[in-house]
This record gives sequence, C-alpha cells and structure tokens, in this order.
Amino acid sequence: MKFAAFVMVALALMAAATPQGPDPLIARGKYLVAFGSCNDCHTAGWRASDGAIPVSAWMTGTSIGYRGPWGTTYPANVRLEFQSISEAQWLFMIKTRAGRWPMVWQDLRQLDGTDRRAIYRFIRSLGPAGKPAPDDVAPGEMPRTPYVDVLPTNP
Ligand code: HEC
Repeated sequence: MKFAAFVMVALALMAAATPQGPDPLIARGKYLVAFGSCNDCHTAGWRASDGAIPVSAWMTGTSIGYRGPWGTTYPANVRLEFQSISEAQWLFMIKTRAGRWPMVWQDLRQLDGTDRRAIYRFIRSLGPAGKPAPDDVAPGEMPRTPYVDVLPTNP
C-alpha cells in the first residue's frame, strides 16, 4: 500500500515536470498554409502586398468573388469557420467537398492526415477575426461585389 502511494506520487511529479510546449503541428500548419496558396485567395491584399500581411489577418476571407458556371463563390473567412467546426469535420470536408471553383479541395486531398490536421490547428489557434465572406451568388446572376471572371474565353 505504501509502495503504491509512493509510485502514484512519483508519477504525478513526473507528469508535472514534463514540459507542455506548443503543439508542433501548429508550426507545420503555418508552413503549409503559407506555401499552399491559401492566403492568395483567403487573405485580402496578400498578393498586392507581396505577402506582407501580418499573420493576425491571415485567412479572414475576402469579398472578391470568383464568377463562373458555378455562380459566384467567395473565399470563406476560415478563421471564423474553424471556431465553429471540429477537426473531424474539417477532415470530412476535405474528403467530400468538390467542384466549387476555385477552392483547391483536390490539392488538399494530396496531403496526409497529419498535414490536414496541422492546417486546422494552425488556423484555429489564430482565433476568430474579421467578418463572414458574402453569400454565394447563383449561376447567371450578377454579383454586387468586385469579382474575377473565371469563364474560359475563346479567341
Ligand atoms: C484559388 C483560390 C483559393 C485558394 C488557393 C484556396 N481557397 Fe479555400 N476557398 C476558396 C473559395 C472560392 C471557397 C468557397 C467555395 C467552397 O466553399 O468550396 C473556399 C472555401 C474554403 C473553405 C470552406 C469554408 C466553408 O465555410 O465551407 C475552407 C475551410 C478553405 N477554403 C480553406 C482553404 C485552405 C486551408 C487553403 C490552402 C490550402 C485554401 N482554402 C486555398 C478559394 C480558395
């Protein structure tokens, strides 16, 4: 009995001494988001500033639409989105979402599970910021925001 108590105290002390550093997947996620072109679409001014937008504003979405046969879609505010969905929901989204141009679901599916999780953990760790992106516009209707026309045009 005394020995068992001793072991329990020793284990508790060891647990308390183990350093609890930040989740290493967060740094990995930052790297993947930066290189994965996510800011090109989801961070206002990213391209124009040559990537000089502070991390605090990353992934807050934009109101510049992408217009094509699918209607007009807007790069979502992922900072807000990731506060309201779980990591499991994000993994499910990558597996199942497709076809809504120009979001790169097909590219995210090339990543392994750890990298998919890393993206979620980094963006979620930044906390909520910004406002939601405008609602999608139906095919054929005119958007009321600036938009990029992504219809292929023949010469
Ligand atoms: C070429 C522009 C573009 C790039 C690059 C891009 N996105 Fe998107 N993203 C969009 C658009 C437009 C939507 C809205 C259409 C949709 O939901 O599929 C979207 C949707 C999303 C959504 C869904 C939000 C919701 O509410 O359902 C998430 C999450 C997301 N993007 C994360 C990312 C991440 C992470 C990256 C980098 C790997 C990335 N995006 C790269 C344009 C882009």
